[in-house]
Amino acid sequence: MLNIIIFGPPGSGKGTQSARIVEKYNLLHLSTGDILRDEMEKETAVGLEAKKYIDKGHLVPDEVVLKVLYHKASDYASGHGFVFDGFPRTIVQAEILDKMLEKRKMPINIVISIEVKEDELFKRMMGRAEDSGRSDDNEETIRKRIEVYKQQTFPLIDYYRNQGKLVDINGMDSVDKVFSNISRAIDFFIMKKEILP
Ligand code: AP5
Ligand code: MG
Repeated sequence: MLNIIIFGPPGSGKGTQSARIVEKYNLLHLSTGDILRDEMEKETAVGLEAKKYIDKGHLVPDEVVLKVLYHKASDYASGHGFVFDGFPRTIVQAEILDKMLEKRKMPINIVISIEVKEDELFKRMMGRAEDSGRSDDNEETIRKRIEVYKQQTFPLIDYYRNQGKLVDINGMDSVDKVFSNISRAIDFFIMKKEILP
């Protein structure tokens, strides 16, 4: 069992890298952003509630996110581990996730933190805005998302660094190079676990 968090600011490549990680290590991808967008598309009560926040670049309230996450995670009752993408995003979410996983004796093993400069984040998301169809890919909302990240999500870096789980990855490199550095960190963790059970 391997549980990974892929952490980073909006547009840093979390989704791009998660897709590759789940394929290589046979894990399940849990992106709260993707789940919420799916709910928005289906116009469910959760989706309509989430839209109010997502369209403004604000975080969706913890209780709404946790509800959809529990629901989705229990759909995936299998022996595979998870790649959590875009979750947790607040200290409250991180503490709840730790408790939830502790109960199941399957803690978070590695937190991959992808670092990308702000002007590059902006460039990437504005480039994607052309065809992403995402209601939050526009200049004003992108600026807000980056600001919200700095205020509410960035502090999680210390939370996980203090747990000894954080691995810093330079996200300014090419997609292939970033993936090869992430793979190296994961392989190192797996090897260490095998040597020191
Ligand atoms: P979410 O869907 O999680 O979006 P985000 O964090 O803003 O990040 P993105 O999905 O935009 O970017 P990414 O890091 O996945 O990068 P990507 O691979 O796409 O959240 C959206 C909203 O939902 C939030 O604002 C919030 O309202 C709500 N929400 C979600 N989770 C929540 C939670 N837990 N709590 C509360 N609210 C929550 O790459 C970006 C672009 O760059 C792509 O075009 C890609 O092709 C390109 N790219 C990727 N890597 C590279 C590279 N190395 N070089 C060049 N280009 C690259
Ligand atoms: Mg994403």
